[in-house]
Amino acid sequence: MLGACSVVAVRAEEMAQSSSMDADEYRRMADAGERHWWYRSTRQLLQQLVEPHLDSGAAALCLDAGGGTGATGGWLTTSAATVLGDYEPIALEVARADFAGYLPVRIDLNHLPFADHSFSAVLCVTALCHRMNPDPATIVRDFARVTRPGGLVCLMEPGGKRLWRGHDVVTHTARRFSVGEMRSMAHDSGLEVIRATGAYTFLVPLAAILGAIERGNDKSDVGRNESGLGGVMSGLARLERRLMRRIDLPFGLSAIVLARKPS
Ligand SMILES: C[S@@+](CC[C@H](N)C(=O)[O-])C[C@H]1O[C@@H](n2cnc3c(N)ncnc32)[C@H](O)[C@@H]1O
Repeated sequence: MLGACSVVAVRAEEMAQSSSMDADEYRRMADAGERHWWYRSTRQLLQQLVEPHLDSGAAALCLDAGGGTGATGGWLTTSAATVLGDYEPIALEVARADFAGYLPVRIDLNHLPFADHSFSAVLCVTALCHRMNPDPATIVRDFARVTRPGGLVCLMEPGGKRLWRGHDVVTHTARRFSVGEMRSMAHDSGLEVIRATGAYTFLVPLAAILGAIERGNDKSDVGRNESGLGGVMSGLARLERRLMRRIDLPFGLSAIVLARKPS
């Protein structure tokens, strides 16, 4: 269960502990993340939510903010030229190798180096939660600034404020978000909310149990149960996606907001 910051953040921690790790090891970790059921399901979920609203015109330009290796946002490159903004140079290298359509740029989300109205869509997945970002609301206001009128902003973050676990500590997660908070951050940035929903709701009881069992024992979900109980988790995620075609979910192990900048 990779609901929070994962491969890249764990990699950053390991780099701090060992200077002998190289790009090949990073590559292997990124590949493991790619195979994990959560990443496969999350790509499908984001495509389902975002793609119908995307501008597919020749001038379209997307931003995958804190995009890491492109594990959840690489699909954007098939719709439009996409700037991948991240502070981790090796992540940018791996993403460039995997997705020819990415334009990788080393940035700090707290100081976006882009002009007003630069992007037709901004995607940000499990980056606002990072302890490097003390004021997520200010970052979202800046996402709104760099988005073109009529453009989209989609944010997906760890949900369930009470579901704090060892995985969050290991991955440098500073906070989890309620669906209401995600909605407010978008609304307070002048964006019109299209969807505000929980996701991976079926994982909430499991996360609560794991949190209680693992108390004081910080452990990452990376490498844990890649197949998702032999496909059971992917099947549940598929059912949930079907439900989410019709309704928003009030809470979940992830919290998502999809919003549009007024024209
Ligand atoms: C958990 S990873 C998620 C990566 C990608 N969005 C995904 O879903 O696979 C969080 C990413 O956000 C990046 N990040 C976090 N805070 C950042 C900041 N202030 N500036 C730039 N990158 C940041 C990290 O380097 C990392 O690659």
